[in-house]
Amino acid sequence: MPVTIMDVRAFKQRGERFAMLTAYDAPSARLLDEAGIPIILVGDTLGMVVLGHPTTLPVTMDDMVHHTAAVARGAKNALVVGDMPFMSYQASAEDAVRNAGRLLKEGGAGAVKLEGAGRNVEVVARLTEAGIPVMGHLGLTPQSVKQLSGHRVQGKTEEAAAQLRSGAKELEAAGAFAVVLEAVPSAVAQEVTSGLAIPTIGIGAGPHCDAQVLVWHDFLGITEGRLPRFVKSYASLGDEIRAAAGAFAREVADGTYPAPEHTY
Ligand code: KIV
Repeated sequence: MPVTIMDVRAFKQRGERFAMLTAYDAPSARLLDEAGIPIILVGDTLGMVVLGHPTTLPVTMDDMVHHTAAVARGAKNALVVGDMPFMSYQASAEDAVRNAGRLLKEGGAGAVKLEGAGRNVEVVARLTEAGIPVMGHLGLTPQSVKQLSGHRVQGKTEEAAAQLRSGAKELEAAGAFAVVLEAVPSAVAQEVTSGLAIPTIGIGAGPHCDAQVLVWHDFLGITEGRLPRFVKSYASLGDEIRAAAGAFAREVADGTYPAPEHTY
């Protein structure tokens, strides 16, 4: 049965922790769906992990629609959430409604995600009124990387923690069905989580969130270089892909591949 936002709210009511993962293409989405992952996020991390940009800022609506549609074709039951890219909702609520509408109409998403509270709370209310389910995102909001002077842990002072708590409450009141908490101290995430009826989905936010999310390439051990402390890789596909490519190249060079059984 396809997962709905009502199911997501019910997970929290029943105290059931759940997992969300990102995906950017149809076969990956199919595998996550078959594994029973209830929410697949087509994150704007697309820009960094798939398209090779240094930040998420260059990602366009067309990029997001293209990849969200691929994921939606691969996922039968999971709720597909399409991320609203930088400048698709910041300038006006009208932009936000039109762009979020594209993610549902052309991308086949079941919901959208956007970053921040403050002025965006009204945007969340407008989208919800328009029938578009919204997931919030607080703490480290990577689209504000320039304003934040880098990818840093947020909510470390009492003032910043209070802002996070009130921002989360405002997003909930505006109709958000869940909130991602990224890179915030565990104790702050715990306070935010216990103050909300909707689930929090943590990434670098400790064990007290209602759910956890990881990015596909981190989760599968494909990302190169130093990983943030919160990442746990559940496979070493980077090593496996390098080994497989090396084996293929060697067998082509020594004539072992293709063998008679691969030949017409
Ligand atoms: O864009 C993304 O993949 C995200 C997750 C890190 C939550 O926002």
